[in-house]
Amino acid sequence: MSLDERAARWRADLESWAIPDEILATAPANPWTHHVARFARRTDALLAAPQGPTYERAREALPDGGSVLDVGAGTGAASLPLRPTALVAVDESRAMLDALAERGREAGCGTVRLVEGRWPDAAGRTPVADVVVCAHVVFNVPDLVPFLAALDAHARRRVVLELPLVHPMTWLSPLWARFHGLARPDRPTSDDVLSIAREMGFAAEQEEHAAPDALFESIEEMSAGACRRLCLDPARAPEVARAAEELGVWPLPLRRFVTIWWDRGK
Ligand SMILES: C[S@@+](CC[C@H](N)C(=O)[O-])C[C@H]1O[C@@H](n2cnc3c(N)ncnc32)[C@H](O)[C@@H]1O
Repeated sequence: MSLDERAARWRADLESWAIPDEILATAPANPWTHHVARFARRTDALLAAPQGPTYERAREALPDGGSVLDVGAGTGAASLPLRPTALVAVDESRAMLDALAERGREAGCGTVRLVEGRWPDAAGRTPVADVVVCAHVVFNVPDLVPFLAALDAHARRRVVLELPLVHPMTWLSPLWARFHGLARPDRPTSDDVLSIAREMGFAAEQEEHAAPDALFESIEEMSAGACRRLCLDPARAPEVARAAEELGVWPLPLRRFVTIWWDRGK
């Protein structure tokens, strides 16, 4: 399959995750938004105990006094634990960037520059860095080729991606079937990202690992989140919790992640 065909299939597979209009029209809240607090918890845990292949692959490529660019930085889970001398964080969410800046100060990181905007549109006003990290973003990116090309163009040494093996909403599929009679897709997967990166000429390698933390701390937190994702009234959370237990969705197993990385010019 050519790169163009792979890229087109990636886009089509992502589009197949769209929520049908008739369900979306009934949503009491935006089903796609990310909560700052949940990502802040993830960042705080990794700041307290940096670990995992994403951290290791970025750390080993970072020179003393080196710089990091974090794209789709959220609250900084992939970059702040590296404690770089200079960090540039790009995100389309101001609230995420503000939470990152606060943590950067507390963690004693060097200079932190915030770039509010969407990648790769924001690439032209973003400086290059020794290491570029991008964690848990690509399943949100229909045009993967220009996105990855701009990451590569901004790295002096290495690009490090982290993503789940499957679409991050996959855990909800049995609940979509129960509450809406809707079958959810099982593509794309992390293998598609690896294939596209290699087809683009990057010597990409990968390592699979378990997520360091649980997605939710309690069944109440899970069912509240599931109601929003499923476009259901929040009052139905107890019903969703019962269904999740019946269907074996809860307790959620630890997710499987993959770290994909490549060095510039290899
Ligand atoms: C799932 S969160 C992951 C945050 C962080 N990287 C982490 O690993 O915890 C995805 C983040 O990427 C941001 N984002 C998604 N697509 C983006 C894009 N094309 N450009 C910039 N930010 C993006 C979202 O606003 C959100 O903060």
